[in-house]
Amino acid sequence: TGAGVIAVDGPAGAGKSTVARRLAAELGFLYLDTGAMYRALALKALHEGVDLRDEAALASLLSDTTIDLYPAPEGRVRVIVDGADVTDHLRSPEVNASVALVAGFASVRSEMVSRQRDMARQGAVVMDGRDIGTFVLPDAEVKFFLTASLEARSERRCQELTRLGYDVSLERIREEIQHRDLLDSSRPYAPLAMAEDAVLIDTTHMEVNEVVARMLAICRHRL
Ligand code: C5P
Repeated sequence: TGAGVIAVDGPAGAGKSTVARRLAAELGFLYLDTGAMYRALALKALHEGVDLRDEAALASLLSDTTIDLYPAPEGRVRVIVDGADVTDHLRSPEVNASVALVAGFASVRSEMVSRQRDMARQGAVVMDGRDIGTFVLPDAEVKFFLTASLEARSERRCQELTRLGYDVSLERIREEIQHRDLLDSSRPYAPLAMAEDAVLIDTTHMEVNEVVARMLAICRHRL
């Protein structure tokens, strides 16, 4: 692993992507959103009518799929699949409902992990996901684990999706997040878990700026 590698893990809606993106911008690092890669595969599988329970079919689909993460203004990321920009389709309810299923398969994960390790090789990256500190980049210099109450996470997701123009209910989102957390935490292969050497931050009662400031202070101290 190269110099300047930061891992950010945690459950859905804990604020990982918002703060990881900001942290990367402050440090002048590249932000890599691994959830977007699993979402991209789920989206393509839905489009092509691939059976989401068929591990071999998904692994073969992935081997025929290029997923590129491109830095965009304000530290955002554009996700390009087979040359087409799919960024705006990755957070749909259909993708939310199927991504954890797709991400549960060992053969899908091992290919994703190998691509993620390649992306981090040059260093100066902030990578966010579920298994970054525990499995993808165990040698990362700084590891964060972000959590928040289910209520806070559901409300944030609800606001985010409303902003994107989806018509959503808080109740449905809460159920969806709970279901996805359960799948992510209970899968046998690289489940969502906090690394022993990760810094735990509970963001329930914190503003984004506060979270970023705390993370930045820790990074400046350690890097
Ligand atoms: O972070 P985000 O909510 O976009 O992630 C979507 C889904 O992708 C997660 O619920 C999880 O099932 C999967 N994922 C994963 N490992 C990662 C990142 C995401 O399994 N490193």
